[in-house]
This record gives sequence, structure tokens and C-alpha cells, in this order.
Amino acid sequence: MPESETPDRQTAGQTAVPRHVAIIMDGNGRWAKKRHLPRHAGHKAGVGAVRMAVERCARAGVEVLTLFAFSSENWRRPKQEVGLLMELFMTALHREVRRLTSNDVRLRVIGDRTALPEKLQSRIARVEALTEANSGLVLQIAANYGGRWDLAQAARRLSARVLAGELRPEDIDEPNLAAELSFADLPDPDLFIRTGGELRLSNFLLWQAAYSELYFTDCLWPDFDQAQLQAAFDAFAHRERRFGKIGEQLSADTSEVGGG
Ligand code: FPP
Repeated sequence: MPESETPDRQTAGQTAVPRHVAIIMDGNGRWAKKRHLPRHAGHKAGVGAVRMAVERCARAGVEVLTLFAFSSENWRRPKQEVGLLMELFMTALHREVRRLTSNDVRLRVIGDRTALPEKLQSRIARVEALTEANSGLVLQIAANYGGRWDLAQAARRLSARVLAGELRPEDIDEPNLAAELSFADLPDPDLFIRTGGELRLSNFLLWQAAYSELYFTDCLWPDFDQAQLQAAFDAFAHRERRFGKIGEQLSADTSEVGGG
């Protein structure tokens, strides 16, 4: 792989704490079913695991946590479940805002928010504004998000720049496509966790996860606790990230910069 293709915000080698953690929070429905409860009870219980993940990541020095709360495809679920999920997001935003601020967390929502209920859109905008100056963890909630949607909207924006005469088609390259994607200003995910036992990316962060370390666990999201998160961090700390290089080059890179 040519040097120029190496992700620019990431250097080869490994640090113990990932800068960016992305999570597919799967298994809420099965958690509820095991307890003979309605699916919604699983989503409600999932809010506790969200709170834990935010607080632990903030304390561990993670810079960005991105949670897949609602995919572009989740609209296909029964209408009642979709409605209850939207209500749950409304309530969680209302209830958690103080806790976000006391943990110095900045909230951002990624995805096509125009399709969300208007009340939810304005609450999101309010919480984003209220937490904007917080300088700790950036918490990104993916709502009505899909990796393919993200790529399509980036392509749309690039073609608008071409039409405006700002860019020639032959100048379209990886960096200027990447610059139009969601959270272009933040590092790509280092660690990509999926709970609930499925081994798929499910259209989450398709471009941005190109070099992420993948971690799959059977644990259902509401049961994902501090120990489970720590196990994912520990697994990450033992991975060798090569970004296309070979292991010997990585040792040479680290000795050049003084070891570590
Ligand atoms: C997937 O489990 C989970 C979701 C589609 C919703 C995730 C939402 C929460 C965890 C609620 C709180 C979120 C925030 C950001 C406040 P599933 O329903 O597909 O589970 P299953 O595979 O067992 O059916």
C-alpha cells in the first residue's frame, strides 16, 4: 500500500486506550424476550449501558464514542417500536443533559435528522448547543444513520462543488471525499464493538471503519457493563495495527520516535 494511503490521523503502532470507540448496541430485544418482557423494556434497559459506556469512556480518556442508536433501516420495524424508541431518545436527552455536562461530554448527532420527529430534532439541537463548549469526550449518537447514506451524501456534496466550479472531477480523491463525510473533523474509530453475537457491520461507518479493530461479543447490550467494556479495551491493547505495513516496520517506526 503506498504511504499516501495510510490513514493520516492514525500512526502505525498501538496505544492502550482507543481514541475513538464505535459501538453497535445489539441485543435489547433478546434481553427483553428472555425475561418475557416487551422489546421496549430491552431498549429502556439499554439506556443504563449507554450511561455506563459514556462515563467509563470519558474517565478512560477516550476522545470520541459513537453509538449506533437507530439505523436508516430501523424504520422497517413495527410502527409502535419505532415510536417508543423516538420517545425513549426524547426522554434520555432530557434526563441526561445534566449528567453529560457534569462529565464534560459534548453531544453530537450524526445521520439524516430531517426524517426524525420535529420535536426530537429541536431537542437534539438544544442539547448539542448546551454541550457545545464541553471539552471532554465527544458522544456521537448515530440516528437515522447508514454508512451508505453517509457516502451518498458526501458524493452529493462533492458533485455540488464540481457544479460550482470549485473542484474538477479528476481531482476527486480519498481525502476530499472523506472531508464530506460525517465527523470529518474527528479521528476514525480505532475500536469497533458489536454486542449481541452477530458478526456484521450492518451498514455502520463503512468508510470510517476501514482500519478499525473489530470486537464482537455475545453479551446482550443491556448486560454490557464495565467489565465487558474493559475486556474490549484489553483485547484492543493486544492487537497489532499495521495499516498495510509489516510488523518489522512498526518496530522500526517506534524506535525512530524514541520507543514506546
Ligand atoms: C438494537 O437491539 C438496538 C436498537 C435498535 C436501539 C438502541 C437503543 C438504545 C440502546 C436505547 C438508548 C439509546 C440512547 C442513545 C439513549 P435490537 O432491538 O435489534 O435487539 P435484538 O437483536 O435482540 O432484537
